[in-house]
Amino acid sequence: MPEAAASPKIPEAATSPKTPDAGFEPPRHVAIIMDGNGRWAAERGLPRTEGHRRGVDALRRTVRAAGEMGIKILTIFTFSSENWSRPPAEIRDLMGLLRRFIRNDLVELHENNVRVRIIGERGGLDPEIQRLLEEAEELTRGNGGLLLVVAFNYGGRQEIARAAQRVAELVALGKLRASDITADIIGRHLDAPDLPDPDLIIRTSGEQRLSNFLMWQSAYSELVFVPTYWPDFERATLERAIAEYRRRERRFGGLVARTGS
Ligand code: FPP
Repeated sequence: MPEAAASPKIPEAATSPKTPDAGFEPPRHVAIIMDGNGRWAAERGLPRTEGHRRGVDALRRTVRAAGEMGIKILTIFTFSSENWSRPPAEIRDLMGLLRRFIRNDLVELHENNVRVRIIGERGGLDPEIQRLLEEAEELTRGNGGLLLVVAFNYGGRQEIARAAQRVAELVALGKLRASDITADIIGRHLDAPDLPDPDLIIRTSGEQRLSNFLMWQSAYSELVFVPTYWPDFERATLERAIAEYRRRERRFGGLVARTGS
């Protein structure tokens, strides 16, 4: 069977929500590039910080909506490996927002049975941030509701390079032959290898590119680009993106359409 057609494993954490909307089958895994905070702020004559702050409000709304709609996994791009090239003040703002998001929202996420996982490079991050990320994962480890995957200090190519390093170590140790390396083996050494690939990737703000997000996992994802700036993202925007996804035919390289849900 071709690799991409293999049925991906559903993580244990992704059990049914308590109250899914009746008659509505959402995609299992939705990933979002939350773009347009800066432009949202600029259009209002506000500082970029305010755009990011309102972006966190949109994130809260979206996590709630995703859980209510029965989405099992929501992956969000919060800080890319390339975002370090922004001005230091903006980087400080974004780090501060992450700290506050974990400190203020973690208890509520936990109460709502959300499990948090982090993907991205943790080495080199501020030790306090590393500790908060670990705490978020640790506290929510046993939760079986929505799985919230936070891509932080994340780049898709960097993730593939990390996987290649792990596989190279196995070869160096004599546990694997170079000629036995397959796409499946690389996939099993990514940051969250047990998760199924995203069915749907949404990017807000009208930009139409992936910007190094989930480069490996997006091979067969449906891409939906919405013109809305991230701070204005509502449940209705998510529903419209999912409606568009449902109109697509997913063939995974074959001839027969297999709709995602
Ligand atoms: C893109 O807007 C967004 C980001 C760089 C980061 C996304 C961050 C948030 C939604 C808030 C932070 C949340 C956490 C949990 C850290 P942009 O600044 O690139 O917008 P622009 O393209 O209009 O300038």
